[in-house]
Amino acid sequence: MDNKIVLTGIKPTGTPHLGNYIGALKSLIKCAETNKTFVFIADLHALNLIKDASKIRQYSYEIAGMLIALGLNLENAVLFRQSDVNAVYQLSNLLMNVTPKGLMNRAHSYKAIVEKNTESGIDIDSGVNMGLYTYPVLMAADILLYNSDIVPVGADQKQHVEFARDIAGYFNNTYGEIFKMPEPVIGEDNGIIPGLDGRKMSKSYDNTIPLFAPENELKKKIMRIITDSKTPEEPKNPDESTIFQLYTHFANEAETAEFRKMFTDGGMGYGTAKTILFEKINSSLAKAREKYEYLMNNKAEIDTILQKGAEQASVVADKTIKHVKKVMLG
Ligand code: TRP
Repeated sequence: MDNKIVLTGIKPTGTPHLGNYIGALKSLIKCAETNKTFVFIADLHALNLIKDASKIRQYSYEIAGMLIALGLNLENAVLFRQSDVNAVYQLSNLLMNVTPKGLMNRAHSYKAIVEKNTESGIDIDSGVNMGLYTYPVLMAADILLYNSDIVPVGADQKQHVEFARDIAGYFNNTYGEIFKMPEPVIGEDNGIIPGLDGRKMSKSYDNTIPLFAPENELKKKIMRIITDSKTPEEPKNPDESTIFQLYTHFANEAETAEFRKMFTDGGMGYGTAKTILFEKINSSLAKAREKYEYLMNNKAEIDTILQKGAEQASVVADKTIKHVKKVMLG
């Protein structure tokens, strides 16, 4: 997918964990090696949920710091805060006028709340603010503002990218071919990344391993991975083991094959397996973690990068909004 404009947003609603890294960040960083990429911290999208500015700010630094520490290619990638580009508020508002209300009613996240409220016998819109309801329009503005070709997202965001296409279509039908049609790209199938309790690693299950936890905390977390009660001697099924699953994402093929054999042969206790996993993850992330810790203690360096990103993004965004205003308002 070379020479395409790639765009994605990351919502600052929590500290990035291994599941985020394996599921999305790794491939995003790889993609930015060869493509013009817009990566932004979707802080405006966090607003409907998080009302504490200091949290949004902190998580935003963590996400930016993490991407920089992991080596995001800043020659190709424009890294910025969504809220630093004024045109996005404008485009979002303008797009409201071609967006059918019924489309918003069909959004999975909104529908899920309506269903829950209905079951509870309360007002269907209880707990729904307009930020949540119009979330897909803001996301369409993000995508359309930068003429994106490709939008890598998790499966849960696919509908939102399809909505961006729908909205672009409504707009183009009314005003002429202004917007490109973006394509959602759903991350290569990394399967479900298991968390400490074996369920999908997710903040909502409180089973995550933070990506850049200090070494001793990382070790503690890994030692807490839940296993079955097989004795060290017994052969074990690697495909049912969280330890093995996590290992595969950091090890090469030969190492993975060897570790698999240690499971199936028997003779390795889970404690040993966890230590092997810890050492692998720890050594893979040590350099990036050091850089991350440095950046978190020198946030001004992150600010400089984000500011430069916002300026670069604004050049493209301002051009789009000027054009859109012209066709809509004359
Ligand atoms: N809604 C996305 C999420 O929750 C984040 C996001 C905001 C985004 N704007 C975007 C993703 C534009 C891709 C493109 O993960």
